[in-house]
Amino acid sequence: MSKGDRLGGKFTLPGTKRSVYRMGYGAMQLAGKNVWGPPRDRQEAVAVLREAIESGIDHIDTSDFYGPYVTNQIIREALHPYPEALTLVTKVGGRRGENGEWLPAQSPAELLSAVHDNLRNLGVDVLDAVNLRLWGDGHAPAEESIAERFTVLAEQQQKGLIRHLGISNATAAQVEEANAIAPVVCVQNLYNLVYREDDGLIDSLAAKGIAYVPFFPLGGFTPLQSNTLSEVAAAIGATPMQVALAWLLQRSPNILLIPGTSSRTHLRENLAAAELEIPAAELERLDAIAATA
Ligand SMILES: NC(=O)c1ccc[n+]([C@@H]2O[C@H](COP(=O)([O-])OP(=O)(O)OC[C@H]3O[C@@H](n4cnc5c(N)ncnc54)[C@H](OP(=O)(O)O)[C@@H]3O)[C@@H](O)[C@H]2O)c1
Repeated sequence: MSKGDRLGGKFTLPGTKRSVYRMGYGAMQLAGKNVWGPPRDRQEAVAVLREAIESGIDHIDTSDFYGPYVTNQIIREALHPYPEALTLVTKVGGRRGENGEWLPAQSPAELLSAVHDNLRNLGVDVLDAVNLRLWGDGHAPAEESIAERFTVLAEQQQKGLIRHLGISNATAAQVEEANAIAPVVCVQNLYNLVYREDDGLIDSLAAKGIAYVPFFPLGGFTPLQSNTLSEVAAAIGATPMQVALAWLLQRSPNILLIPGTSSRTHLRENLAAAELEIPAAELERLDAIAATA
């Protein structure tokens, strides 16, 4: 069944004139195996980005800790000078160890240097949007004050180096704390059909018009697998990954998607998911997956 809204329709970031299609693209997979460069096929990585833009995508999620630096360098090679309509969202707060470990980098000096690294590697004078990536407990957030760290980014916004701010791997209290320092336009946390810890947060952000951008929408390093998902996909003539994405678009109007792929074939499949409409009875079956997971 076709919905007709191109790329899921547009969403305007709160308090701004900036709007993006709800179907975006996550660039993490471009860095290579284990998000550690170089990629197996750099030309394909460049081609994926160019095709994403040609297909209408105007929201790309990235970070300098993908590669490290490799993903941003490929984005620059493929797309610079950037289309005016493109919103590039990056994140700071982490770094990679010598053996590819994911490590926090949250001191004021590390956050500042990450802002400047992103400006340089993306080849821009101003970053469209920057998420403060909190470390918490791996991919789950942990309660602690984020005021000092978010203030560092708010100051860079006041200096004109960052247009919009977001927060990642955050609790509801941390979003509120950040929003009192400077407007939060987006929250990027782990969420998908199976992992639904943020159901309440999504609804409260929707009421405030703040974007919720799930990472690992397809399960990330452990792709989503479920008999129900496969059955629903077969019933509506789509792939399980398309159904997982369409479910997110139908879950709440403030959800923006950034599925990650290093392949044009998967990119096309993912973009087509924005055209799917999952019937109510099948939605109910999908909603039950998390309850039994
Ligand atoms: N804030 C954070 O802490 C955080 C953490 C993780 C990720 N992120 C962001 O979120 C984005 C999305 O997350 P993600 O890339 O880790 O996970 P994901 O989108 O859930 O899944 C990506 C995986 O699914 C595969 N895939 C993509 N499309 C597919 C399709 N149509 N059919 C079958 N397999 C498919 C990809 O492999 P192929 O390359 O072979 O397609 C890749 O292995 C990232 O790109 C990144 O920008 C943020």
